[in-house]
Amino acid sequence: MTVLFTPSGAPWPARLVPNPRVDRGSEYPAALRPILSLDAEAVAAREVASWPGYAPTPLRDLPGLAHALGIGAVTFKEEQHRFGLRSFKALGGAYAVKKLAAATAGPPAAVCCATDGNHGRSVAWGARASGLRCVIYVHEGVSEGRAEAIRAFGAEVRRVPGNYDDSVRIAAADAAREGWTVVSDTSWEGYQDIPRDVMQGYGVMVGEAIAQGGGAARPPTHVFVQGGVGGVAAATVAHLWERFGATRPRVIVVEPDKADCLTRSAEAGRVVHLAGDLDTIMAGLSCGEPSPLAWAVLDPGADAFMAIGDAAIAPAMRSLAALGVVGGESGVAGLAGLEIASRDPAMRATLGLDATSRVLLFGTEGATDPALYAELVGESAEDVMARAAA
Ligand SMILES: Cc1ncc(COP(=O)(O)O)c(C=O)c1O
Repeated sequence: MTVLFTPSGAPWPARLVPNPRVDRGSEYPAALRPILSLDAEAVAAREVASWPGYAPTPLRDLPGLAHALGIGAVTFKEEQHRFGLRSFKALGGAYAVKKLAAATAGPPAAVCCATDGNHGRSVAWGARASGLRCVIYVHEGVSEGRAEAIRAFGAEVRRVPGNYDDSVRIAAADAAREGWTVVSDTSWEGYQDIPRDVMQGYGVMVGEAIAQGGGAARPPTHVFVQGGVGGVAAATVAHLWERFGATRPRVIVVEPDKADCLTRSAEAGRVVHLAGDLDTIMAGLSCGEPSPLAWAVLDPGADAFMAIGDAAIAPAMRSLAALGVVGGESGVAGLAGLEIASRDPAMRATLGLDATSRVLLFGTEGATDPALYAELVGESAEDVMARAAA
């Protein structure tokens, strides 16, 4: 299904693919519990809550936006405020590093990972807190601003050729040679324990959002969440499925049309790998290979996948900024997906969006690249927040 939505005369093409395999009749499958579970999430939540400076990130109610979109309610979880790292990724990589540092077998000699920016920042932050050496691999498309933010946490940053998936392979090869431990946010055959911990850390954000939105008595009806390798979307689906079973909110996974590996996998009915530079303004979502562990949850659990173009991103950032809310390029993809879907009659009907819908959005990052944020929005994140506070 392709729609041309023209908010200001400019077309914003998007592809919506309802998941033909979604299972909405069963309880959360026992087979998925070893990957993600509410029990393991509770352990992660206790650990994260013990970190200095922990506070749940705000859940903002956006009634004006809901009204404009003909939706009952829209709430936006502001990960801009997560531990000063400005993204939800602070929960995942750092949680996995903390677990490694506390392992009975002793801490690793060093930790390393590939990153589009946010995951590496989290791993570097966790490594510094645990006194571990840390090496972070960034590919050609990662801005120098993001690399510098990682160095600020004391990590060595290595820039490597190719795309994100290439940097994952280079990090893994170097780690094998040097005896380091890879803390990846994506899984592969024979490498699952650490990415599972990373995803479980993300679940903390989902638990917070449900609690803040009125608890189990008043869950959202829909959640739009960004997709890179699928980790945060899987954490979202797993939490909601185990907690709410057949009545769980619908989850729509939104990703860039230039890196739409999850949408294509849903269409093909099997994991699809994309090659090439996958260049998109949504840098954190520039992934061509789904995480198999995440896909195991998304394939039966996600309701729909949506691939959107870069053109929708700056307007979505600006519409949030006008409300005093900061959302970065990758963090507003879900909002952009909602804006497109709610204005298209066919997509509205497909997703069951109407004036009674309560939509939860995860604003997974704030201004993680401040210069780019200011360029796209026309003012700095600090100015947006100062205006909101005034
Ligand atoms: C801001 C932001 N949102 C969402 C994602 C997607 O997460 P995942 O790769 O687990 O799907 C990322 C990944 O880096 C990200 O940085």
